[in-house]
Amino acid sequence: MMRRCIALLLAFGSWRASAQVDSVVRDGRLSGWELQTRSGVYQIALTGQGEVVPVYYGPRAHAGWLSAQDRARGNGPFVLDEVPVRGKYADKVPVLEVVFADHTRDCELGFVSAAIEDVENRKTLHIIQRDKYYPLVVESFIRVLPEYDMMEKWIRVRNDGKKEVIKVENLQSGSILLPPDRYFLVQHSGRWADEFQLRKSELVSGVRTLQSRDFYSFENTPWFCITPQEGDDLKECNVWFGQVHYSGNWRIDIESTHSGHVQVAGGINFWDTQWELTAGESYTTPRMSIGFTEKGTDEAARLTSSYIRREILRPSTREKLRPVLYNSWYATGFNVNEENQLRLAKEAKELGVELFVIDDGWFKGRKDDHAGLGDWLADPEKFPAGLDPLIKKVNDMGMEFGIWVEPEMVNTNSDLFRAHPDWALYYPTRSRTEWRNQLTLNLAREDVYQYLLKAMTRLLGEHAIKFIKWDRNRGITEPGWASAPETVQREVRLLYIKNLYRLIDELRQRFPDVAFENCSSGGGRPDPGMLSRMDQTWTSDNTHPLDRLFIQYGYLSAYPANTMVCWTTDYDAGIINLPLEYIFDVAMQGVLGIGDNIARWTDAQKAVAKRKIAEYKDIRRVVQQGDLYRLRSPFGGQRVALQYVARDTSASVLFCYTMGPAPEGSTEETRRSRQLLLEGLDRAATYSVGKDSFSGAYLMTVGIPWPVGRPYRSVVIQIKKQ
Ligand code: DGJ
Repeated sequence: MMRRCIALLLAFGSWRASAQVDSVVRDGRLSGWELQTRSGVYQIALTGQGEVVPVYYGPRAHAGWLSAQDRARGNGPFVLDEVPVRGKYADKVPVLEVVFADHTRDCELGFVSAAIEDVENRKTLHIIQRDKYYPLVVESFIRVLPEYDMMEKWIRVRNDGKKEVIKVENLQSGSILLPPDRYFLVQHSGRWADEFQLRKSELVSGVRTLQSRDFYSFENTPWFCITPQEGDDLKECNVWFGQVHYSGNWRIDIESTHSGHVQVAGGINFWDTQWELTAGESYTTPRMSIGFTEKGTDEAARLTSSYIRREILRPSTREKLRPVLYNSWYATGFNVNEENQLRLAKEAKELGVELFVIDDGWFKGRKDDHAGLGDWLADPEKFPAGLDPLIKKVNDMGMEFGIWVEPEMVNTNSDLFRAHPDWALYYPTRSRTEWRNQLTLNLAREDVYQYLLKAMTRLLGEHAIKFIKWDRNRGITEPGWASAPETVQREVRLLYIKNLYRLIDELRQRFPDVAFENCSSGGGRPDPGMLSRMDQTWTSDNTHPLDRLFIQYGYLSAYPANTMVCWTTDYDAGIINLPLEYIFDVAMQGVLGIGDNIARWTDAQKAVAKRKIAEYKDIRRVVQQGDLYRLRSPFGGQRVALQYVARDTSASVLFCYTMGPAPEGSTEETRRSRQLLLEGLDRAATYSVGKDSFSGAYLMTVGIPWPVGRPYRSVVIQIKKQ
């Protein structure tokens, strides 16, 4: 046995079990790298010909794989480069496509060096390759985050030449290769008011592309989950998952081959885009986070949520509990004024609201969606003395004040457009799409950037505003920038997002105690690029509680609960007439908000709301910061259950809903599911559940009877360690 261990150690050379990234040295020479997370291993080989080739990504059980098999180029059944380029066989998805000054369109990379470095306090493998004949340096980075079973990949390219330009036609963040198997893809599918619907489909030979070409991510989001398991019960199975951290056009290509291999490549979508890399210039992609777990899709969602909550959200606010907010949109629409907002604010305060947000309609000329965008000053008719008297009264009541803005847009009926018609994106020779009667400002322009920085700085600097809801209500069309040089015109989409990020980052720097909410006609721009800048996301304009059960379940597959804003509204009035308790119980799954016209509420409604808001404040730390176990999916039947568990397992909150009539024993679902098994608790501890006490082990193996007796009813159960 001892002899075998020594032999293995020799085979691995410098490999150490505790290392997260290490070089693999065999026969005295570098033969690859191994990156380890809690349950996954990613192995890359360096071939004798100096090629860098991923050879394995999957369960740790196969950690000896690299030394056991020689997968040097040509010896294996499927070979892919770590940075697949356009060049040689075009049978893989390239993450790099360039054109050199002499019009050569192929690339051929050779290994230069590699180092294990510290990037933001994490071990990061940094591999440098170089085109064998042209001055292009390609650096790939893999940063390991073992406790989330994740790594981040990104690429930096540099033109190392003296004077000639290299045209970049495609540059993505990275690619991975899955071992051969039969695979299924879980993805978001959706549209406005129907976001984050989970869809599962088999991956058969060919390429599946999830993408955005108009800066909207309604149809798909930049998130994927791949599993070899066909059924819906995905608790114990291998899952590869990830997201692109980018808010403009992105793409994820999933290529499946007849052999069963799957390549996943993701990053910026260079559709309609090209970047001129001048001599000496570098370009760095956004990151793509990629994870692997053996514990199923729900664990993948927990890992992703923890990762976003603890690594992506801005450090100063990531642990801060999100306040209960009121938003005026569904109550007063564009018709906001000091008097009606004050009336709503007084009611909101009585109910327990902590943040009062005035939505669209407050600025100059904004009577409806035909005018005003671009002119970020209070409308003198609606607010004759400006915003300050309202803000002061709201603050005096003990609430913070927040406001809606849509900085990236302009109405043609605005002072801004009249003064600068060339600041919007369109082609002067073509008709222009005025979607919701507005155009997109060309944020790629420095003067537009400076104008918006000034306008937002004035708004936030001159008023006691502590919360910004940053909306964006149309996608990009006709991205014309007639006055720019031809090459820059093809860079407009990239420059736009660069300046958008720069603008938000600068505002956050200037106003560190202002919270930001991300909105794009509802949930049209959800991605870690935005989440690294904004504290929370408006999930959907659809606030019907039954629809919300699906939308929120889907959202929680990829993003944490403390970013998911949910309002109670009267969306359901006259449809099913769900009890107000139910409406609250759905909205309490994330960051609770009230969007109703509460000035019209009866005393009975107010009493329910007051009680529910108090209950939410009691459980919100567990909801916003805990681990979520999704026990019953709305996509699987009429009974839905979500259980949040505090990180230290001291408390848990269980939400259960019925979505319609499903008498006991009437369906496979109700026959199977009389008992509800809890998860994530401390097995040895005793927990109180209402008036009863049970051990954690009992709750997780025997469970509790399904607690909701009637259709369209819900319960929230607090579970506490004794
Ligand atoms: C779309 C958002 O999703 C709504 O909540 C609201 O803010 C409107 N825009 C306002 O125009």
